[in-house]
Amino acid sequence: MNDLFIYTASIRNILAIFGLVKTVVSGIRSTGNLHLGNYFGAIKNFLRMQEQERCFFFIADYHSLTTHPTPADLHANVRQVLVEYLACGIDPEKSTIYIQSDLPETAELYLLLNMNAYMGELERCTSFKEKIRKHPGNINAGLLTYPVLMAADILIHKADYVPVGKDQEQHLEMTRTFANRFNRMYNQEYFPEPVAYNFGTELVKIPGLDGSGKMGKSEAEGNAVMLADSPEVIRKKVMKAMTDEGPKEINQQKPEVIENLFTLMKTVSTEETVAHFDDLYNSMKMRYGDMKKQLAEDMIAFIYPIRERILELAKDDIYINKVVKKGAEKAKESAGKTVGEVREMIGFRKF
Ligand code: TYM
Repeated sequence: MNDLFIYTASIRNILAIFGLVKTVVSGIRSTGNLHLGNYFGAIKNFLRMQEQERCFFFIADYHSLTTHPTPADLHANVRQVLVEYLACGIDPEKSTIYIQSDLPETAELYLLLNMNAYMGELERCTSFKEKIRKHPGNINAGLLTYPVLMAADILIHKADYVPVGKDQEQHLEMTRTFANRFNRMYNQEYFPEPVAYNFGTELVKIPGLDGSGKMGKSEAEGNAVMLADSPEVIRKKVMKAMTDEGPKEINQQKPEVIENLFTLMKTVSTEETVAHFDDLYNSMKMRYGDMKKQLAEDMIAFIYPIRERILELAKDDIYINKVVKKGAEKAKESAGKTVGEVREMIGFRKF
């Protein structure tokens, strides 16, 4: 991980200047182990995009401070996400992998963008409204300005594409608003308009196992299947997944909880398997227990090799430290340039 990394990264930097490759930025909060929602909503696209584009993938540890982790938990979670990134196949020789807080330039851009982010638009943000509904005792300013920090993450590398799941769509809209506002204020076409990206198709939303619409880290226990889960744990979680009393008519439309189970199956099972259970459902011969057993085994087959790599990589302090150091250096190069130019545009000049 030395020469090849520097070579690939520099070539892509040059190609990006001429618009021949796109700049890609995305991150995941360090709030616990990654789950299948993170994988199919984000990481799957990171893996495809790193083959061609100029990619920056980071661990959003500043963002995770809104929930006040202890220092020990914060550190352990950041390390775990990093290990899981690598175990999934994000390759430090192709992508720049870094920790958000290693780039204080992001915090400076956040401060600057905050000056032109308005209370009304921040309060209207769906994720903010949801957070204050769920945690009325912890409505901090970090939560309110969360989309501004996210915009800073994206704009600091002047990203074109942001591979994310459906739940981040509104944040990307806000990023474009902040970018355009900045461009207008300083009469420059400086920031590109980044888009939430899924190779031209609708952004993904992976449902949870508990009947809730979305798989998430902070949802109830048993909602999410983690990439680090053992086969036994996966079997237990899937067998407890919510279902109903079964179809009442031939070819009836599936209720949401059942549709969710099929959506999950489509991510890890073959088309034939999905078609098989679809036929059983439509002909009213469905036994959910059989479907869940199959789903659990297909999830295990998908997750097992990732889990093995997680366990292996978690032991390799030397490699992990090298990745972090190299990533911070590369990210700083790009971020330093942006912040320098932004300062200049705003009117901070050297005396
Ligand atoms: P986070 O940490 O909640 O989720 C990380 C990524 O996983 C996706 N995701 C899902 N996709 C489909 N179905 C699901 N059930 C599911 N759950 C999570 C998310 O859409 C996301 O892509 N604010 C961000 C982190 C962030 C960021 C950024 C992302 C901070 N700065 C800049 C992109 C660019 C977040 O909380 O994601």
